[in-house]
Amino acid sequence: VIRPRLFSRLALRGVEFRNRVFLSPMCQYAARDGYAGDWHLVHYGARAAGGVGLVLLEATAVAPEGRISPADLGLWSDDHIPSLRRLADFIQAQGAVAGIQLAHAGRKASCDVPANGGKPLPPERGGWPIFGASALPFSSVHPTPRELDEKALADIAEDFARAAERALAAGFKVVEIHAAHGYLLHSFLSPLSNQRNDRYGGSFENRVRFPLDVVAAVRDAWPEHLPLFVRISATDWAEGGWDLDQSIRFGDQLKDFGVDLVDVSSGGLLPDAVPPLAPGYQVPFAQAIRARTDIATGAVGLITEPQQAEAVITSGSADVVFLGRELLRNPHWPLHAAAALGEEVDWPTPYIRARG
Ligand code: FNR
Repeated sequence: VIRPRLFSRLALRGVEFRNRVFLSPMCQYAARDGYAGDWHLVHYGARAAGGVGLVLLEATAVAPEGRISPADLGLWSDDHIPSLRRLADFIQAQGAVAGIQLAHAGRKASCDVPANGGKPLPPERGGWPIFGASALPFSSVHPTPRELDEKALADIAEDFARAAERALAAGFKVVEIHAAHGYLLHSFLSPLSNQRNDRYGGSFENRVRFPLDVVAAVRDAWPEHLPLFVRISATDWAEGGWDLDQSIRFGDQLKDFGVDLVDVSSGGLLPDAVPPLAPGYQVPFAQAIRARTDIATGAVGLITEPQQAEAVITSGSADVVFLGRELLRNPHWPLHAAAALGEEVDWPTPYIRARG
């Protein structure tokens, strides 16, 4: 009997995942002042009970001004730890690993929640000053960010490291640094958003410098026995932007900096870039980075079918799949996928009589 690889265990450093179906980080826009509440417990708890290997919490701001919206989760204060510890404990009691994505939204910060249109918030509606790699706005309706100076960059790297320490105190076993989707770290990587003249802009080496400063600070603060992930956008889908070749070079560097897995997404830097959406459309990027750098990768984006997810793993395109919207539609996707692939997995004890 050939065991489906999707439901084979995976070890990264000292952490073992029961399978390779991971919950992709997805903002719930349900926090107040950064605190997790009942919605987060029920939402993330349900996906843990539904059988994923890793529950990766949404973009969680390392500083208040780094929130996309006022309803983002935060870890800029020790006060946030208990509300997140409740989640991590429950997730891990269900047999999933608990992880958290640490983020700074940069020039895409200070927006209304998507349910209200997601537009930049003016100061009179609670908006705040925004910062970026360069003084270039995300779009014509976004305000111009202030260019961060070197002292501010050092402070933000420190914010990421302190947030990682708080994630550890809250019981998380995986930290993912958000360096994708046009947020602060991605805005340093791409020549379209980074037009600095100092040692943080210009050449490839200069553009990766600040993201690598953050990775180094987090790796230093995050225990040796726990894995560190980085999410990147493998391409800006735009001429003259960040692309797959640069992602491969960056992947090599991330491996040298002690990153265990690159979570390979794309886009988000420009409001009008159009990705060629199709099932598994970002998988080839995960495959190329894995083949060319020897770092573990995660594939994400329009992965919805058990056989499709299985093929991503068995073809060697990626080590894990991240599912986003499909796990919003169906929190028990892993239980059904295992059955479809002929694999025996544990169901939550209270649900055993529902098992076919
Ligand atoms: C997202 N996505 C996302 N990505 C990320 O890195 N951090 C985040 O906090 C969020 N937030 C978020 C919220 C919502 C409501 C959606 C739908 C998406 C992107 C997400 O993780 C995933 O990469 C994409 O949704 C593509 O995968 P699927 O949904 O096609 O499986």
